[in-house]
Amino acid sequence: MDAQTFLKKLDSIPDIPTLPNIVVKVNEMLQDDDTSIKKLSKVIEKDQSIVTKILRLVNSTFYGFRSKIRNIPHAVIVLGFNTIRNAVVSVSIIKTFSGKETFEGFEITDFWKHSIGVAVTSRYLSERTRLDSPDDCFVVGLLHDIGKVVLSQHFTELFGGVWKSIKEDKLCFYEAEQKLLPVNHAQIGGYLTKEWQFPVSLIDTITHHHAIRKSVSNLNQLLIVHAANSIVNNYKGDSEITHDFSSIDPEAKRIMSGQLETVSDWFPSIAAEIESACEFFLKEE
Ligand SMILES: [Fe+2]
Ligand SMILES: [Fe+2]
Repeated sequence: MDAQTFLKKLDSIPDIPTLPNIVVKVNEMLQDDDTSIKKLSKVIEKDQSIVTKILRLVNSTFYGFRSKIRNIPHAVIVLGFNTIRNAVVSVSIIKTFSGKETFEGFEITDFWKHSIGVAVTSRYLSERTRLDSPDDCFVVGLLHDIGKVVLSQHFTELFGGVWKSIKEDKLCFYEAEQKLLPVNHAQIGGYLTKEWQFPVSLIDTITHHHAIRKSVSNLNQLLIVHAANSIVNNYKGDSEITHDFSSIDPEAKRIMSGQLETVSDWFPSIAAEIESACEFFLKEE
């Protein structure tokens, strides 16, 4: 089976994850110049569980506002449309993908811990380098491996093979996929987010986060998420951090040399931030 045939198969799966309605609506509204704070707030307020989560998020140390934000219109004014959109996307995507059964041994909580780690690290890297919007980088980081969840939920047998090969042949996920599948999780994630009509830059970054392509629509974003993924995978939480960045693309090393050289100094505090973000996003209601 070639890659295209495989990806087409995704279309025919009846319960392939669809994008939560609220995300579709919010995305649509932000493309429309006439959208007012009032209109946007109304859409979000239809889903009370999202409202509660968003308000908790914006009042958490994650955004660091001193005065209390009491309602959605206030949150939109303080944070802006784009940040609110990204908060809605983050909260509802994690919710949507956490309910379903996945392949045994593949822990969805560990999956989200990794994804949140890459999201927070990407946000930090973009803040420091000013190479891209920190907020956009957070969302792309969060979604970069979403193809793995699709594989684990809908292609259980293939996923099982990959899983076995990771354990037995000591390969990383991507290498095992290259060996066994016509496509990899990055391409699946790209395909899915295209169906969901996410921005082109996000689709490109997800599709190429392992095999860098220079001609993407937002190369800086791609390099940030690619480097963040490597940093998070390298960090084992010990004080003697030995970082092996040999797999990082040379261009990413060049534009983020300052951050990569000092990673042992700043990553421990980012690791603490990841911890608290996980606590927030993964907490059961
Ligand atoms: Fe990946
Ligand atoms: Fe990853």
